[in-house]
Amino acid sequence: MAGIQQRSVRIVMNGVTGRMGYRQHLLRSILAIRNEGGLRLGDGTVVWPEPVLVGRNEAKLAAIAKDHELDHWTTDLDEALAAPDAEIYFDAQVTSRRAESVSKAIAAGLHVYTEKPTAENTEGALELARLAAAAGVKVGVVQDKLFLPGLRKLKRLVDGGFFGRILSVRGEFGYWVFEGDWQEAQRPSWNYRAEDGGGIIVDMFCHWRYVLEEIFAPVRSVQALAATHIPRRVDEQGRPYDATADDAAYGIFELDGGVVAQVNSSWTTRVFRDELVEFQVDGTEGSAVAGLRRCRVQHRSTTPKPVWNPDLAATEDFRAQWQEVPDNEEFDNGFKVQWELFLRHVVSGEEFPWDFLAGARGVQLAELGLRSAREGRRLDVPDLTL
Ligand SMILES: NC(=O)c1ccc[n+]([C@@H]2O[C@H](COP(=O)([O-])OP(=O)(O)OC[C@H]3O[C@@H](n4cnc5c(N)ncnc54)[C@H](O)[C@@H]3O)[C@@H](O)[C@H]2O)c1
Repeated sequence: MAGIQQRSVRIVMNGVTGRMGYRQHLLRSILAIRNEGGLRLGDGTVVWPEPVLVGRNEAKLAAIAKDHELDHWTTDLDEALAAPDAEIYFDAQVTSRRAESVSKAIAAGLHVYTEKPTAENTEGALELARLAAAAGVKVGVVQDKLFLPGLRKLKRLVDGGFFGRILSVRGEFGYWVFEGDWQEAQRPSWNYRAEDGGGIIVDMFCHWRYVLEEIFAPVRSVQALAATHIPRRVDEQGRPYDATADDAAYGIFELDGGVVAQVNSSWTTRVFRDELVEFQVDGTEGSAVAGLRRCRVQHRSTTPKPVWNPDLAATEDFRAQWQEVPDNEEFDNGFKVQWELFLRHVVSGEEFPWDFLAGARGVQLAELGLRSAREGRRLDVPDLTL
């Protein structure tokens, strides 16, 4: 068609044999964009992502490439980064491998988009942000939870003033991750070893930082209690190992304006909820419960007046007293939406707020959460600058 210009963008994708790299980033994002014919920009340009698969296992990479009719894969990251047309480096490796590879990509002059956490500690995460700023490359970090339909609707409620003054936020995240003995574990074993970058605080507090800040207000303090409830697990090869990382974290966060957020994160709880994560928000004018997809509200005008009486069986169906918030728009896969925004950022300079400093703030909250748990006290969260 006249007027349409295709603009290929070569993306070096490291860690695509992993859970997140393969399913969310390659399949549901990059290949989904290709299946839709590319990403169309306002000026008619069609961005065509051209992935180069990178990993440690050639056979696995070749199999993925064959399954999806892709031409480029390699086990040599340096070679992939040195290719003259390589433009973006993407990293979904295990967390402990990230900082080194991202640094190499920045040094090679590539723009970088990466999974969280960006590094294993705040100083490492800030160092990446400084390197990127000095090199003048564009960078982004995955903050997928912001794009969940349930949380988008929650944000809409906040922006529309539904809550009045927000008092508190209570988050429940988690599910039972099998120990790996009589049933296979549904998460990789490195998640349960601190020495390999595992632990639920490192994994989840990065998310809670941007969720709390973008929907409610900046996080000013953290108090966390970490537990390793299951001390022995069985790995992918059937070998028992010591679980050295926290598998549950009980956190309290104070936000600007006096909002109190309590978030439980657990791989050792059984789900009696409607979704794997849910946030209840209570405000003077109304309350909401938001999950991955759904969001329900109760306005003060429809709030019933329960009376405590343990002698009687519950007389009211409390869940039925809430009202569903309608979608009112279409929600695409959150990882894909964020990839599209990053590609627009790289190709046409559009705004992309979730940079390496945002990534470092997530790592900072995790680091402070772990320290708070170790020292048994509440810690302030200082502002971060480069
Ligand atoms: N955004 C999210 O919601 C979300 C969810 C889960 C995980 N993550 C992040 O994504 C990253 C990958 O997590 P995952 O669950 O896909 O893990 P995974 O174990 O399934 O995949 C890890 C990938 O890293 C590669 N790798 C490189 N060096 C390795 C090493 N020394 N040991 C083991 N693997 C190595 C593996 O080959 C594989 O491709 C982590 O940083 C994690 O924090 C993000």
